[in-house]
Amino acid sequence: MDRVMIFDTTLRDGEQSPGAALNVEEKIEIAHLLEQMGVDIIEAGFPISSPGDFRAVQRISKEIRNCVICGLTRANRKDIDAAAEALQGAARPRIHTGLGVSDVHIKYKLRTTREKALEQGVDAVKYARRLVEDVQYYTEDAGRADPEYLYRVLEAVIEAGATVVNIPDTTGYTTPQEWGALIRSITENVPNIHKATISVHCHNDLGMATANSLTGIANGARQVECTVNGIGERAGNTSLEEVVMALHTRRDVFGVTTGINPRLIYPASRLVSGLTGIVVQPNKAIVGANAFAHSSGIHQDGVLKERTTYEIINPRDVGVPDSEIILSARSGRHGLRHRLEQLGYSLDDEAQFEKVYQRFLEVADKKKTVDTRDLEAIVADEVQMFFEETYHLEHVQVTCGNRSIPTATVRLRTSEGIVVEDAALGTGPVDAIYQAINRIIGEPNELIEFSIQAVTEGIDAVGRVTIRIEADDPVSENGVERRVFSGRGADTDIMVASAKAYMFALNRLLAARREAALHRSTTD
Ligand code: KIV
Ligand code: ZN
Repeated sequence: MDRVMIFDTTLRDGEQSPGAALNVEEKIEIAHLLEQMGVDIIEAGFPISSPGDFRAVQRISKEIRNCVICGLTRANRKDIDAAAEALQGAARPRIHTGLGVSDVHIKYKLRTTREKALEQGVDAVKYARRLVEDVQYYTEDAGRADPEYLYRVLEAVIEAGATVVNIPDTTGYTTPQEWGALIRSITENVPNIHKATISVHCHNDLGMATANSLTGIANGARQVECTVNGIGERAGNTSLEEVVMALHTRRDVFGVTTGINPRLIYPASRLVSGLTGIVVQPNKAIVGANAFAHSSGIHQDGVLKERTTYEIINPRDVGVPDSEIILSARSGRHGLRHRLEQLGYSLDDEAQFEKVYQRFLEVADKKKTVDTRDLEAIVADEVQMFFEETYHLEHVQVTCGNRSIPTATVRLRTSEGIVVEDAALGTGPVDAIYQAINRIIGEPNELIEFSIQAVTEGIDAVGRVTIRIEADDPVSENGVERRVFSGRGADTDIMVASAKAYMFALNRLLAARREAALHRSTTD
């Protein structure tokens, strides 16, 4: 069977989702999981776009040895130089350069002509090929371009040395039939197409990204670009889990394989959602909370008699943990460690394990039983924090009710061990907590999103709070740009979870400010 290459762009196009900004450590954590999962190419960032992106591509290039590492550029030498420098340590570096090919892009965005754009693209490929052997060329907005012009561009850039040609449906405009026909026509009208791999990069504006990617593969594409949970610009990109599981489940139709280990699909989904703060919709295919839930009596009866009556994928095959296995305080350290290992968390650091164990005991005390979803929330809270806390939440207390003014007291501990306490009134209990924290930390920001989800069923469920705050961008020199930071926290008490989520977002913001100041002082 032919192999389709999986090109993951969670760390580049995915990170372009509003508010999904990740720090370098978080990107590295995701990159390691993508490598373990069997992704062929990781697009690690857009090196010229920011010092953070540059450093992320540089670190990922050094640490990830089993994937091609790719850096995005525009079609100019400065961008290409930056990408080549960031990719220097990679075992297999790839530069991804390109330019718009639709008339609307050429006329209004690039303000040039078709001929000049073609020349610029060819020059970019030739230049990139002097620096690395593997050069991918993107023809932005190919979905709305004149196919005759697209064929000419593809022929010219392949002639110039492009090893992969990326055909993006940048605006998610094209229908599956049109997309399949376009990819087929490229194989028929570009004389040297056999010298390059065709890649498809589809956006989901009309909900057709996965369908388009699949028809692209059915018509000759051998690389597919995707992101975990389908995150990305606007309505997002093709989602990795959908395209991989469609190819796997319907291999009778597509007749191709991928190198992905599907069992890591669900852990990757949880990690990316936790770190980006982008909640996965419950009905999301493959990884949503309801993807394998059967609520109607007829369906439940059918699945109990024979799973395949209503399930085309075994949830275990995509790494969805068995929520039936529960632990209690009596399970002890050994039982907890064993279950965490089964779930794919290897907590080698004893101090970290101990923190998880103490939280587990607290939850078990309140809920009596702890299931997989509770454990995931605990691990996310205690372990998946890839920045240094400037302030740690020690204590929070709130009073509220229909006849009282919400009042909160918080106690924080600084990284130097100094304990600070304050209290505030608010319009509601969450507002009171956030006002009290603001009185201590004094970091201006605006809360732009707040959501609560119950991690499990039942009145005693752990609540997971996800928030976004907006503040002056730590990297922006003039202070006018704004950046969004997400935060999350989980607890059986949703006020405590709300306080944790706010502390998470604020600590992330403070860590980014420190990092930006350090970078400025070393480059001045
Ligand atoms: O959607 C798009 O066209 C892109 C290119 C930069 C590859 O993301
Ligand atoms: Zn894109």
